[in-house]
Amino acid sequence: MKVLVTGGAGYIGSITVERLIKAGEEVVVFDNLYQGHEDAVHPDATFIKGDLANYDEIEAAIATHKPDGIMHFASYTLVGESVEMPWMYLKDNAVNGANLLEAAVKHGVKRFILSSTANLFDDPEFMPIAEDERIVPGSPYGESKYIMERYLHWMDQIYDMRYACLRYFNACGASEERGEDHAPETHLIPIVLEVALGKRDKITIFGDDYDTPDGTCVRDYIHIIDLAEAHILAMRALEDGPSRKYNLGNGKGYSIRDVIETARKVTGHPIPAEVGPRRPGDPDILIASSETINEDLGWAPMYPDLEQIISMAWEWHQKNPDGYSK
Ligand code: UFG
Repeated sequence: MKVLVTGGAGYIGSITVERLIKAGEEVVVFDNLYQGHEDAVHPDATFIKGDLANYDEIEAAIATHKPDGIMHFASYTLVGESVEMPWMYLKDNAVNGANLLEAAVKHGVKRFILSSTANLFDDPEFMPIAEDERIVPGSPYGESKYIMERYLHWMDQIYDMRYACLRYFNACGASEERGEDHAPETHLIPIVLEVALGKRDKITIFGDDYDTPDGTCVRDYIHIIDLAEAHILAMRALEDGPSRKYNLGNGKGYSIRDVIETARKVTGHPIPAEVGPRRPGDPDILIASSETINEDLGWAPMYPDLEQIISMAWEWHQKNPDGYSK
């Protein structure tokens, strides 16, 4: 199988590329390096520096390489930023995704995996959150992923393109060779580890007055390798199966204080923490039900344990204290 991976130089994309290559697949990475790093691209993948905003660039890549399937990671991904700069999300994410889909259907690509999000479920009626939960995007970011999900519905109806929307909860952890390196970093686990590395003085907990056991937000942290494997299983399932949507998490919630405490244990560092104001847009609790992908494809997390997830991230951060910048 030949797979075109947009955003294959980014955190989740680059580790999925690593797993695809390990599984013997041929990979073409298309990335504009806005958040990605060329060093993160597996050496056995073909790398194209290109921008989805430019239809001709993505069409040329698809026409030249003729992928059997596409995994689409490239997008703006920050909930908070999307509220401050909604058009980056409501326009750019949507238009870039539309360019990709238009070029894909023009060249007969029949399989598509979308990197979607738990931010579709801002006001869940049931916890853990299953695929039939009502969709209430929590931000322009979540809305932009929902727009992509709706585009895919029509690509299937009109062009027979089979798709899987994978709604991730909190992606984290690292492989031996690849890890999380955003600029600026906004995610909890890498920030906590930067404190342990001495790169920051403390972690600020965004609010401790949530309706949760210790007052801090509860999230479902899922290892990046487990996420990557779900993409590969889903892509294979689309060879002879229908389109689908899966929620991806461990089915277990940890509070911010749990994460900090576990990181203290893993790193041996005291990791000073202080409580600050709430960050806009954070729901109290987000926990996934991944029963559907387990039943359909036999997917189950290999690394469900938070201590192991943080240990693997810690190993990568210790080996790469400045991330990919040499
Ligand atoms: N947090 C802090 N201090 C920090 C950073 C984060 O307290 O310095 C808190 C956040 O407020 C949140 C929790 O830690 O309660 C996790 O925050 P992250 O920023 O690590 O992750 P999010 O849950 O905000 O976002 C992630 C993905 C999004 C996706 C979302 C879906 O990054 O792309 O999960 O729930 F939309």
